[in-house]
Amino acid sequence: MSRVALVTGGTRGIGAAISQALHAAGYKVAANYAGNDEAAAKFTAETGVPAYRWSVAEYEACVEGIARVEADLGPVEVLVNNAGITRDAMFHKMTPQQWREVMDTNLTGLFNMTHPLWPGMRERKFGRVISISSINGQKGQMGQANYSAAKAGDIGFTKALAQEGAKAGITVNAICPGYIATEMVMAVPEKVRESIIAQIPVGRLGEPEEVARCVVFLASDEAGFITGSTLTANGGQYFV
Ligand code: CAA
Repeated sequence: MSRVALVTGGTRGIGAAISQALHAAGYKVAANYAGNDEAAAKFTAETGVPAYRWSVAEYEACVEGIARVEADLGPVEVLVNNAGITRDAMFHKMTPQQWREVMDTNLTGLFNMTHPLWPGMRERKFGRVISISSINGQKGQMGQANYSAAKAGDIGFTKALAQEGAKAGITVNAICPGYIATEMVMAVPEKVRESIIAQIPVGRLGEPEEVARCVVFLASDEAGFITGSTLTANGGQYFV
């Protein structure tokens, strides 16, 4: 029987590529999204992957959303914490709200999604928790004190939880993409984006599918010995 995978932020950008790659690999996939109904409907029409709307920033919404997914597809065995936002600003201009919004989605979202699923994974003695961190959680990025802090937090979360999950057959890993050709990166001012591309040794932005393939690998039964790791996919921009 095929396993059930839930991808947060799974209807656009890197998340859409992840949902599609897992679907192509034979998983029953649910794609969560926060607000863009139009993009979600288009994604479902094109891929056949069902989309479910709730905010990962709200714990109760996650509990209810997960219950809907599990009623439709069965117990979630693979969780991909992909949902993420940016509220970039130089620190002296950053507002408490910009700090909070990024923390709530990019860091607390991991707690809100993983916590309700954890007991079931422990009982079934199988689970995969894969969180999309970022190169900027590893190296820091000017204009992103909030985002870099949250993404670094994702790595700490991963390393701690990997130790707790190991005996229960649950692996917990993070992927650290570099700059990938998505709307998020295209929103960066052109001059800045050009200077970023100049720092990538392979000379280009990454493709969402290049991150999605990392997820399929870590989700597989064969990846059971890999836990607590950070898999870096950044075109050589930063070595950890
Ligand atoms: N790399 C290099 N230089 C940067 C930079 C970056 N990422 N971000 C800002 N700068 C530089 C600007 O070029 C500018 O330099 P000059 O004064 O020499 O022209 C200086 O910092 C100030 O920047 P702005 O004039 O743009 O200042 P602002 O207050 O108008 O805007 C900002 C600040 C909102 C942070 C804007 O610069 C910006 O959006 N920067 C991009 C930040 C970034 O890299 N975000 C990554 C988004 S993609 C992502 O997050 C996905 C992922 O995981 C990799």
